[in-house]
This record gives sequence, structure tokens and C-alpha cells, in this order.
Amino acid sequence: MPSLRESATQKTFLQKLFSWYDRSGRHDMPWRHTKDPYAVFVSEFMLQQTTVNAVIPYYERWLKTFPTVFDLARADIHDVLKAWQGLGYYARAKNFHKAAGLVVDDHGGKLPVDPVVVRSLPGFGPYTTGSVLSIAYDARLPIIDANVRRVVMRLLALPGEADTQQDKKVTAFLEKVLPRKGVGDFNQALMDFGAMLCTARKPKCLICPMASVCAAYPHNPEHEQ
Ligand code: ADE
Repeated sequence: MPSLRESATQKTFLQKLFSWYDRSGRHDMPWRHTKDPYAVFVSEFMLQQTTVNAVIPYYERWLKTFPTVFDLARADIHDVLKAWQGLGYYARAKNFHKAAGLVVDDHGGKLPVDPVVVRSLPGFGPYTTGSVLSIAYDARLPIIDANVRRVVMRLLALPGEADTQQDKKVTAFLEKVLPRKGVGDFNQALMDFGAMLCTARKPKCLICPMASVCAAYPHNPEHEQ
């Protein structure tokens, strides 16, 4: 089995991931068709604790109500909370409104590129900073959600439960394999791969294009037959 510690195998992995994503990724999500940082910012804030299908109508309505970061920044917080109604976790909406105000007041309405600056905005943790900056600006930042973590832990056959120690290894691997271009697509491809193929239960290993580079594949009892 070729090892993902080697750069030639990492290249094969990237090619396989992108080719799978082109063919089978969830390209119907509306935020996958824009690089407008504000629209990406809207989608990633909404997706923090809400599922994709629940977010889609809210995302579309939101961009009609507040088409730009300037519209959001000057909106009354009551109107913002009303537009958010049903998504839950209202602290997200309040943070979102505050962050939009700071982007307008301190950065002329343009979301900064510097991850340290973005991290300091209300509501931006490492996940949202990585997702927004990689999707909008192709910044070379990995993102780790439950799907991505599971995929990488399997590819490398990292033992045990997901914890801080394992996350350091997952981050180190992702930082090594992140492509120079198409980082947002890479991150979203890994999310889709985890959500659709490398699922928590009953992963679809028998049709998995990554089987030849996956360290966990030979140990999966599902393919012993
Ligand atoms: N969850 C968070 N961000 C996402 C994205 N861009 N695509 C799919 N699921 C997500």
C-alpha cells in the first residue's frame, strides 16, 4: 500500500479527490457558485450549526433582504433577528451583525484576507475563518469538521478517538496536502467525501476511489469477502 506520507501518493490523493468531486460533489448548493466573500460569509455562518438543506432557503432569502455587507451592517438588529428566525442559536445572528459592522467600519466593507484579523471578528472561530477565507480567497487554510476529521483519520489509520492530539495530526496532514490553488474546493470536496462516501456508518469502501491510498481500507471487515 503506498503511504500518504509520501509526496507522490499525496499527489495521487489530490487528483483522485478532485476528480471524484467534479463528478460527484454536491455542486447544487447555491453558495458553491459564488466567491463573493460576503455571500460565503453568510453561508458559512448559517452552516455553523445548521444542516445544508435547512440553510438553503434562509441563505437565498437573506441575500435578497441584505444583499451586501453594507446592508447588513446598517440594518436594525431586530430585522436581522427576524430574518434569522428559525435557524436557532441567535448569538450567531448577533455576532454576524457585529462582524458586518466591523468589516464596514474598519475595513471599508471588504472582508480582510489576514486570518489573524478575521479570527478577531465576533463569531469567527478557526473553522469559520478557514472556511470563509479558503472558499472566498483561496487562502491555504485547512478546515476540520466531523466529516473531514473522520476521512483523514481513516486515510492515515490514526487509532483511537478524535481528540486534540489527533486533531494536531489531522491538521499537519492537511497542511501538507493542501493544493496551491483550489483550496476552497479541496476543503469542500473533503466535506462532501465524508458526508457521502466515507460516512460514519457503513462507509462505501467498495466503490471508494481512495481505497488504494487508504491505510484503513485493508482493515475494514466489509471488504474481506
Ligand atoms: N458545512 C459548512 N460549510 C460547508 C460547505 N461550504 N459546504 C457543505 N457543508 C458545509
